[in-house]
Amino acid sequence: MSGGPSDVSRETVSRETQQESESRDDEFAANAYTGISISDTPIGAAAQRASQVLHPHSVTLPKPKKRRMITIANQKGGVGKTTTAVNLASALALQGLTVLVVDLDPQGNASTALGVDHHSGIDSSYELLIGEVAAKDAIQSSPHSERLFCIPATIDLAGAEIELVSMVAREGRLKTALSDEALEGLDIDFVLIDCPPSLGLLTVNAMVAAKEVLIPIQCEYYALEGVGQLLRNIELVQAHLNPALHVSTVILTMYDGRTKLADQVADEVRNHFGDAVLKSVIPRSVKVSEAPGYGMTVLDYDPGSRGAMSYLDAGRELASRTKSETESVAR
Ligand SMILES: Nc1ncnc2c1ncn2[C@@H]1O[C@H](COP(=O)(O)OP(=O)(O)OP(=O)(O)O)[C@@H](O)[C@H]1O
Ligand SMILES: [Mg+2]
Repeated sequence: MSGGPSDVSRETVSRETQQESESRDDEFAANAYTGISISDTPIGAAAQRASQVLHPHSVTLPKPKKRRMITIANQKGGVGKTTTAVNLASALALQGLTVLVVDLDPQGNASTALGVDHHSGIDSSYELLIGEVAAKDAIQSSPHSERLFCIPATIDLAGAEIELVSMVAREGRLKTALSDEALEGLDIDFVLIDCPPSLGLLTVNAMVAAKEVLIPIQCEYYALEGVGQLLRNIELVQAHLNPALHVSTVILTMYDGRTKLADQVADEVRNHFGDAVLKSVIPRSVKVSEAPGYGMTVLDYDPGSRGAMSYLDAGRELASRTKSETESVAR
């Protein structure tokens, strides 16, 4: 992956930092758009949230009675699936919940961002899928939080899409591997599954394992392109393999308040998905894109940044939906 520390020249950093501060007004515009009032003034709100990041024990989100498993999917590449998976996970962990990220993308970007080992040969999501290893043995702890765990993806997963085709119960292997029995005693509140940019067997396995789908949508032209296909696939899985599956959450990513387009896309997505869309919008932020290069989430890399704060808000919003989610699951 690009963006490692050595790739970032001092000039680039300073130019980007300047851009960051120039777009601070946009942050306020984005917050205004979300309609969330956290404090009376923008500076007050920023200070409040930065203090929360720096003193994580000041806020504790309620634990869901039943573990929530969420598949993060969109077959469109580069829309922010991985960024959302790791930063939401970090936001939930920072606010007192225990989170497992399952990296189901052979690119292994989520594993990189969480700072966990993912060289070929270690126990990973590949061994988990083919039944060679139990979830408990593949889980690694993220160095940045005692409540954040990851089952990494190695390059071995690249062949899994084809290998799975001839396997018994090929669509339900992840579900079995992440069953309540398999995770017993681990006290995990949220499992977030980061999918590759395709609708192949890896993504289908994630959709069979989870009850909720979270769709990140980039606030760009063609944002909704392909979403129809994704929804049709979700319906197919729902009809044949997992009746409880539903789109519980949509998150708008890379929002740039300077463009009219971003607002148009946001409006269109809200019209389409209604209340599933989180009020918290993730702004386009250089800090968010720099963080994985240091093996960190943006909440560890720059806790006071607007990217960190927006993921913190999104995490809180996601957790606040636990009651309705667990009830809808029980239906
Ligand atoms: N809010 C943001 N601000 C700036 N850059 C971002 C933001 N979110 C994501 N990015 C950058 O956009 C690129 C794509 O993001 P990410 O890898 O999360 O997308 P993805 O959907 O997981 O991609 P893929 O389909 O390849 O798995 C990355 O370089 C990431 O750092
Ligand atoms: Mg990704």
